[in-house]
Amino acid sequence: MMLDYGARVAIWDADEPAMDMALLDLRAGDTATGTQVDVIDAASVTGAIRGALSAHGKVDILINSAGILGASQAAVDYSYDTWCQVLDVNLSGTFLCSKLTAPRMVNEGWGRIVNIASLAGKEGTPGLPAYSASKAGVIALTKSMGKELAITGVLVNCIAPAAINTEMAANADPVQLNLMIEKSPMRRLGTTEECAALVCWLASEQMSFSTGGCFDVSGGRAVY
Ligand SMILES: NC(=O)c1ccc[n+]([C@@H]2O[C@H](COP(=O)([O-])OP(=O)(O)OC[C@H]3O[C@@H](n4cnc5c(N)ncnc54)[C@H](O)[C@@H]3O)[C@@H](O)[C@H]2O)c1
Repeated sequence: MMLDYGARVAIWDADEPAMDMALLDLRAGDTATGTQVDVIDAASVTGAIRGALSAHGKVDILINSAGILGASQAAVDYSYDTWCQVLDVNLSGTFLCSKLTAPRMVNEGWGRIVNIASLAGKEGTPGLPAYSASKAGVIALTKSMGKELAITGVLVNCIAPAAINTEMAANADPVQLNLMIEKSPMRRLGTTEECAALVCWLASEQMSFSTGGCFDVSGGRAVY
């Protein structure tokens, strides 16, 4: 959808084959590039920023979407290693990519950072303690950076989707997934297009008086 609005897109993902497939699907020629990146490795992110700058000239929009679900287990049974892994990718990865990209946007006097949080970060999903905590952290990081950068022209917001029909949902515990659908006033999963439309608006010039905000995509489920 970003391409439809004229953006040049650099996809960063740890999974190179999946990224190559996504690039093929996009059929965007040199307006979309892909780089294998580990979002919790500063050298890897710095290299990807350099690559994006040489391929596309500048970076004025960052969308932090890399994430993992982790185990579906109660907190008392949860392994500390898995806890750290989920917090690392979902929260520290968002922090690192934002920290390393924002200064260039500040120098340009314009930028948009859109973080993909989750309704789990607002409500806390039973059985997903690390995921929920990591996404609550993403929401709080968004609020901190939004306030810090408010007068620089760089606006930082996040979205909080409920269950969306993606590969992550397909791999989720079916019991968890059904619970999420039942809780939705619209009684369905959201679509990636619905999320992308909100992300595009949050990344646009039209979005000029919101920062540090958390925008729901929840089919009416979010109540605050
Ligand atoms: N699917 C849902 O229902 C749902 C709901 C709310 C929020 N979200 C969030 O939306 C985002 C996208 O989720 P999705 O459903 O498309 O999942 P997905 O698994 O299809 O995509 C996540 C991507 O993150 C990449 N990734 C994982 N670890 C990485 C790392 N260390 N470095 C770089 N890339 C890494 C994976 O390779 C994968 O391509 C995630 O942040 C997720 O938490 C999803």
